[in-house]
Amino acid sequence: MKPIVSASIDTAALRHNLSIVRAHASGARVMAVVKANAYGHGLVAVAAALGDADAFAVARLEEGLLLRAAGVSKAIVLLEGVFDREQLEAAVAEQFELVVHVPEQIELLRALTPAARCTVWLKLDCGMNRLGFKGRAFADAWKALEGLVQVRKAVGLFTHFSSADERDPEATLAQLKVFMEATSALGGHRCLANSAGLLNFPLSRGDWVRPGLLLYGVSPLPDSTGAGLGLRPVMTLQSRVIALKDVAVGERVGYGGAWTSERRTRLAVAAVGYGDGYPRSVGSGAPVLVGGARATIAGRVSMDMIGIDVTDVPVPLKLGDPVVLWGPQLPVEEIARWAGTVPYELLCGISQRVAVELC
Ligand SMILES: Cc1ncc(COP(=O)(O)O)c(C=O)c1O
Repeated sequence: MKPIVSASIDTAALRHNLSIVRAHASGARVMAVVKANAYGHGLVAVAAALGDADAFAVARLEEGLLLRAAGVSKAIVLLEGVFDREQLEAAVAEQFELVVHVPEQIELLRALTPAARCTVWLKLDCGMNRLGFKGRAFADAWKALEGLVQVRKAVGLFTHFSSADERDPEATLAQLKVFMEATSALGGHRCLANSAGLLNFPLSRGDWVRPGLLLYGVSPLPDSTGAGLGLRPVMTLQSRVIALKDVAVGERVGYGGAWTSERRTRLAVAAVGYGDGYPRSVGSGAPVLVGGARATIAGRVSMDMIGIDVTDVPVPLKLGDPVVLWGPQLPVEEIARWAGTVPYELLCGISQRVAVELC
């Protein structure tokens, strides 16, 4: 039985996008970011499709455990590290690599049995003021980690940019300088660049790059799309028409009657709404594809449904016809702009009742 709302995942597109990432990476190894259920695309399926990546990065222990349980034997980096002894022991048992960003994590490592060996990435806060050590504390943390028998040498050097997607490079160049200065005298692999860093700042490529969004075929840069970067969008979110009706001039549609028909309108109702992760904030006028043609949302997005003005759709429509909310022909970047958000949020926001299917 075909589900009404599905997110189909193009695994060939994932592999294609990895090859584009490699072309940009100037030989750096690729740590594929698959946190948050691989940005809504399905953690285990994406890791299987990206089997050629050099490592995977997830935010938390639980995500790493899901990968190992699915048989993934590659290196897995926990981007937030671990926060107690139990988590650390589990991480060591599974050979997860740990980002270390607060002194408490160094103390946890120090308290581990001396027989344990753990690969760590020391994170510098180069200006984002989120995770990482700054200035002198970074140098001290590096010395402390280099002195622990439980830590494999050399300690990896890690940072994250706050603004690599912005047109003005100033902030990122300043952050890059902070990283270079803090690490110039140190050995160890360097890992700095997310998708936008990889595209915009060749100097940030280091030994490892750490892209997420690009792998899913989506652009991290403003006013651009993945296709424009030679990528193939991986996810198509689709539903179906479940009702068709005519609406007279002056009639109002949906909750609050927020949209008024200014002409005799052919209206399709599709079974998708914010209960599926399609954002309520898009509102009237946002594009969808019905019967392969562009049409626009009429009225508010409900929990389970949207109204669509299909008057100008040139093909006859019937119940069950496909409605595409985003995909290769309708960039998620465009829908994110309508919703006043970023594509990350839309992709990660797909709800549990959406069937994620590989194709
Ligand atoms: C620490 C870290 N590295 C890399 C990434 C990947 O970023 P992007 O999807 O923009 O490539 C993220 C994503 O949020 C992140 O938090």
